[in-house]
Amino acid sequence: MLKQEMPAAALAVPSYLEETYWWAYVHPKAVQIFERQWLVNLILWGNFSRLRDAALDALGNELTGRTLQVACVYGDLTAKIQQRLAPDARLDIVDILPVQLANAQRKLGKDARIGLIHANSADLPMPSASYDRVLLFFLLHEMPEDVRRATLAQARRMLKPGGQLVIVDYHRPSPWNPLYWPMQAVLRTLEPFAMDLWRQPIHTWLPADIAPEKVHQRTLFGGLYQLLTLTV
Ligand SMILES: C[S@@+](CC[C@H](N)C(=O)[O-])C[C@H]1O[C@@H](n2cnc3c(N)ncnc32)[C@H](O)[C@@H]1O
Repeated sequence: MLKQEMPAAALAVPSYLEETYWWAYVHPKAVQIFERQWLVNLILWGNFSRLRDAALDALGNELTGRTLQVACVYGDLTAKIQQRLAPDARLDIVDILPVQLANAQRKLGKDARIGLIHANSADLPMPSASYDRVLLFFLLHEMPEDVRRATLAQARRMLKPGGQLVIVDYHRPSPWNPLYWPMQAVLRTLEPFAMDLWRQPIHTWLPADIAPEKVHQRTLFGGLYQLLTLTV
């Protein structure tokens, strides 16, 4: 059965979510408006399925053991992960907003293999080395640098030895990409922290014990998006 593992009132909503992303996640009508796969697909220039499937393929066809998805995602990504779970596997989903966890629960239905954890990704309550794989899907670009660093450190802390981290997010496209200037305008206006991912590779915010050569990066859609995988 899905359950929330901490009381909803115990955690403050981070200021960047309140100030920058209230319209997308925090406002009571946000889920009603944005929980539409066609809309998420439009925001990603028609690439939702491609990016979702790239993340799924990186995670693996059959997910045994314990998987952690850090932050809820609009659309059917988590339902597709659910379909890949082995009968005795576990998927935990963390989010800071109870409304997003409730939406995930509604999408996933009753499933004893799935847990919903109300927590801040920068300060996770689970013990170290608890998961075989961790997924961060379009989360890091929404965060100020200190929260991004802390989230990556926590994701790394969650991994068992040999565990895998999968990240999908924005990336600086080639200047020849027709979306270079329009996307820059969109991101500067609506997603101010996202430009950090255009300026710097994600591995520069990873904990120091992860050597950059352990990180495999592939870009998609003319370089506008990136998929990172690393095994600890
Ligand atoms: C994964 S990101 C963006 C995903 C993508 N844009 C989509 O289509 O949904 C959005 C989620 O991250 C959550 N989130 C943001 N900052 C967080 C934090 N510090 N800890 C936990 N969850 C966080 C938000 O509440 C929201 O549900």
